[in-house]
Parts: sequence; C-alpha cells; structure tokens
Amino acid sequence: MRRNSRAADAGTLERLFGGADGLLPLWIAEPDVGLAPGIVAALEERAALGWYGYEMRPRSVVESFWEWMSDRHGWNGTDLQASVSPSVGTSISVLIDLFTEPGDGVVIQPPVFTDFKPIVTSAGRTAVRNPLTLTDDGYRMDLDDLESKVAEPETRMMILCNPHNPVGRVWTLRELREVAEICARHGVFVVSDEIHADIALPPHRFTPFAAAASDAGVGWAAAHGPIKTFGLAGVCDSLLVTNDEQVAKRFRSAASRFHLNRNNAFGIAAFETAYRTGARWLDDLLGLVSDNFTLLRENLPDGVTLIEPEGTYLAWLDFRSLGMGVPDLARWLPRSAHLALSPGHWFGRQGAGFARMTVAVPTERIEDAIGRLTEAVEMHDA
Ligand SMILES: Cc1ncc(COP(=O)(O)O)c(C=O)c1O
Repeated sequence: MRRNSRAADAGTLERLFGGADGLLPLWIAEPDVGLAPGIVAALEERAALGWYGYEMRPRSVVESFWEWMSDRHGWNGTDLQASVSPSVGTSISVLIDLFTEPGDGVVIQPPVFTDFKPIVTSAGRTAVRNPLTLTDDGYRMDLDDLESKVAEPETRMMILCNPHNPVGRVWTLRELREVAEICARHGVFVVSDEIHADIALPPHRFTPFAAAASDAGVGWAAAHGPIKTFGLAGVCDSLLVTNDEQVAKRFRSAASRFHLNRNNAFGIAAFETAYRTGARWLDDLLGLVSDNFTLLRENLPDGVTLIEPEGTYLAWLDFRSLGMGVPDLARWLPRSAHLALSPGHWFGRQGAGFARMTVAVPTERIEDAIGRLTEAVEMHDA
C-alpha cells in the first residue's frame, strides 16, 4: 500500500492538482495494493544481510525474465540479446543518442505516455506525431499518416507503446506487422516500450514487437522489466532486448561508459523474485483490474465513458460530452470530483477531454471514485 509515499504527499498533490485536501489519488501508473509477498520477503532478507557493497548480477536474473516470458506469453527469446538498464526512460534516451542525430525526427503516437515527448525533445530531436484515431471500435493507428511521417528523410526512429498507455490498446500481431513493414521500408528503427506487457485482459494477449519484426527486417529494440507489473519502480532494473548484436553491443558500451550498469542489490533481488514467484499474485491483480473495469463500465455517471480497455491497469475516461475545455476539466476533477487523475492533455493535445485513472487499487477505492464522479456530474448538470 502506498503509505508515506512521496509520490502522493501533500506537496505533490498541491503542485499537480492545486490542493491536497480530501483528494483521492489515482493518477500514478503503479499498483497500489499489497505487493507480492515473495518480493517483500526477498527485500527484507536482503536488507537483513547488513551488507550492501558491490553486488554481482547472477545470470539467473536474465534467465528468470525469459522463463517468465515463455510461460506467460509464449515468447521464447533466449536467442535474443538482453541488456540491463536502470529504467525504460534511460534505455530510450540511450537509443536516441546512439541511433539518431540532433534535428532528426522520432515518431510518437499521442495520446501517449507523458515522458516520450520530453525524452525526444530534450535530446534536441523532433517529436513527430502520428496521433492515434478514436473509431467506433476503439483506438487505431493511422497507418497512412505513419507511412507519410516515416517517409520523411529526417525521421529515424519510432517509439511504440505496446501495450499502449494511456488508451489501453494491446496491439495485435497484424498491427505490429504493419508498423514493422512501414518502418523497414524507410529504414526507421523501432523502440518498443513493452513495460505493460503483463497486463493484458483476456481474450487480448500481449504480442512482443519481436514477433512482428522477425520477417520484416526492421531494426528494433524492446524495453521490459517487472516495474509496472509488480510496482517496483523504486527498486528495480529493466532490460533492453534486441535481435541485433551490434545494437546490444553499442547499448552496452554506452551503459558501461556512463556506468549505467552498476548493480543494485535490492534491484537484483526484486527482479528475479518477481519473475520467479509472482505469477499467482499477478493473476489476482488481473482479476482485480478486470473487476474494477467492469465496475466502472457499469456505474460511471452519464457523461463519463470508459474507453474499452484491452490491457494496462489504466482506465481512459472520456469526459467530452460534459463540454469542458482543457483547463476547466483539469480544475473540475480535483475541485468538484475530489479526484487526482491524470488529465488527458498531459498525454498530448489528443488527450483533451479525457482523463486517466489507475484501477490497480482495492475495489472500494473505485466505488469511492465513481461516487465522487456521480456527485460532481450531478452538480455540473444542475
Ligand atoms: C509506457 C511506459 N513506459 C515507461 C514508464 C516508466 O518507466 P521507467 O520508470 O523505467 O522509465 C512508464 C511509467 O508509467 C510507462 O507507462
């Protein structure tokens, strides 16, 4: 449970939402339930050693990842290269540095995870937008627009969010193949952020970009790790996976140059224990997430709609029929509904009129959120 967490302290709530009093915080993308007991025990055990010097990373850490991927997702990738990286953001930044030049274009698909754009622009590259399209059937990629953006000579890279935060799409093999083929045609390198891989809601299944890339001949790398699934962002490492030895070699050389591969004793313990012992906990989490989505779908007040999720524990809520502008909705959520959600415009202007709510929380909290929204909508309509 998030007790005494800095992420939700009063100062942060004040800064982001203009106040903290009585706010129900549901904006951070991590599970806020009791974490997997095996992981907590492993960390306690490691702490109890009372020795925190240089740590070696056993090979079993990466092996645990591949066993997990094979068991849960049918992905056998032991012939691929897996390199350790402190975070997904680090991996993407290093790849941008290695495989693009200042001024080059990097495609992103808004509305999308808030960090992609600043990672691209702070490196002096241009964020090239290929917005997702909301159809009657949910969000889809605009592949014609993608092809035209990727065909620009300055465009050198694409960051894919698979599954997609915040709209909850779990991209299909067919969609990923189309992306792979388009990017292969124009020599654009694909970075697939697959950190939400484990949270696919049946019948949807996670497809690694690797599966789509193999025949297309596209350059790619994918970011993975247990941080989102198991709520380990504060302790854990991530992995960068690729089929290309040269990409792995260059990534490792940059990691070594900047000492990005320092081993963290707790990160190592958490990573391997999560993958070796966390399956049942994750099954329970998926059940909770699915129940909470059902609750939202059936009980949201008129005027607020859940975009049908296929994966992630993030509800993408459509408030457009309430007719509020961007600043009004961003104020109304905390002030009238007393909810700290991520307003949609944080994910790009395509998110205007939407908000993201984390549903990996005890069901009572979702019931509470629905009650708050219902009251606020009634007052808004009155
Ligand atoms: C799609 C996606 N990528 C990356 C991250 C963050 O990963 P890291 O903290 O390892 O950079 C998040 C966090 O919400 C995310 O949703």
